[in-house]
Amino acid sequence: MSSTKRIALSSDHAAIDLRQTIAKHISEQGYEVVDIGPTTLESTHYPKHGEAAARLVASGDCDLGVIFCGTGQGIMMAANKVKGIRCGVCSETFSASMIRQHNDANMLSIGARVVGEGLALEIVDAFLGAEFEGGRHGTRVDMITDIEE
Ligand code: RB5
Repeated sequence: MSSTKRIALSSDHAAIDLRQTIAKHISEQGYEVVDIGPTTLESTHYPKHGEAAARLVASGDCDLGVIFCGTGQGIMMAANKVKGIRCGVCSETFSASMIRQHNDANMLSIGARVVGEGLALEIVDAFLGAEFEGGRHGTRVDMITDIEE
């Protein structure tokens, strides 16, 4: 893996502990972590945190993003509204690899109330460790991008 990859992280209040655990884990692997919070347990609104991380990825400031909420679903929906973002929710490692390999996903979403910490770490490792295969998959990803136009 490239040790210079910048990874955007954000969550809502439901996933702060998990997000911070993931931040430490991937930082120890050599990734540059851009953790934009929040840091308090105060109730907050997942759309703004999903959008903020997505804008870091869409602008090129970060290479990839990993976001979290209770189910992973709401924050994923918000992130996917940002042009250029392809974000999938994963609760197992196979899909986490495949969304990189076939869909060129640039963001991963995880539900902190769905998966335990150990599995979440493996899901993130699978996502960050996989590469887009291109070829026929590139044609299909281009078709997704065309929908945005
Ligand atoms: C917050 O209670 C919860 O709705 C949120 O974390 C998330 O699961 C939404 O999709």
